[in-house]
Amino acid sequence: MRNVLVTGASRGLGLAIASRLAAGGYRVIAIARSESDELRALIAAHPQRLVFRAFDLSNTAELKELVRELRRQAGPLYGLVNNAGLGIGGLLATMRDPDIESLVRLNTLAPIILTKYVVRSMMSAGAGRIVNITSIVAANGFRALSAYSATKASLEGFTRSLAREVGPLGITVNAVAPGFVDTVMTRELGESGREQIARRSALRRMAEPADVAGAVEYLLSEAAHNITGITLTVDAGNTA
Ligand SMILES: NC(=O)c1ccc[n+]([C@@H]2O[C@H](COP(=O)([O-])OP(=O)(O)OC[C@H]3O[C@@H](n4cnc5c(N)ncnc54)[C@H](OP(=O)(O)O)[C@@H]3O)[C@@H](O)[C@H]2O)c1
Repeated sequence: MRNVLVTGASRGLGLAIASRLAAGGYRVIAIARSESDELRALIAAHPQRLVFRAFDLSNTAELKELVRELRRQAGPLYGLVNNAGLGIGGLLATMRDPDIESLVRLNTLAPIILTKYVVRSMMSAGAGRIVNITSIVAANGFRALSAYSATKASLEGFTRSLAREVGPLGITVNAVAPGFVDTVMTRELGESGREQIARRSALRRMAEPADVAGAVEYLLSEAAHNITGITLTVDAGNTA
């Protein structure tokens, strides 16, 4: 069974991705700071397919040891889904500096360093799939999300350049850019905000966690073996 590391898998998009990949035959190593009831129930239903490891990814100095330990326990890592992220918004002029630093640490620095250690395992196996969860705001301006957008745009640049670097070794690197999806991260939008997003989308609805999970599963699949360096947008046509 192929091991896939999914960060931020306790709720929202990460939980949907972990669930989809476990159902698709992968063995998922789910990472978050704490195990939610939903993830616990999923693991109880598929104990061979999912394992939880508590870890605070903002603790970047410990990432090397984390990957070493996971490799020792689980064996080679075939896939990495960098999904965990913070969604702190705010007008830049009044944002707190520590919030800006937390955003960059968790959304940019942690996935880059985690990928550095995981990709070494993929390089020695001569195969691997990396999927970075970005956002439509990486390429489209959105008021009060400038710092968050910067972190997501940098991950897309990372995706393209790393794809060139590790492509010759049989490893693909892609991004999935969701539009607004109804999760804890976007709960401040409220009903009227969600309705407005749906109204402005080509398909007159919002994308759902399962849609994002389907895109990730595709990029991990054999069918996507010739796709690398791209950003796959999943937004029900919000940016069409
Ligand atoms: N929802 C959207 O509309 C949307 C749109 C575009 C892109 N995205 C992106 O999609 C990804 C998932 O978003 P979501 O909406 O599912 O977010 P979410 O509901 O807030 O879930 C975030 C996940 O990340 C984990 N996490 C947070 N801080 C962590 C840390 N320091 N160390 C380890 N894990 C941590 C959380 O678990 P713990 O709190 O237990 O650690 C949780 O599992 C993010 O990268 C986000 O930027 C979301």
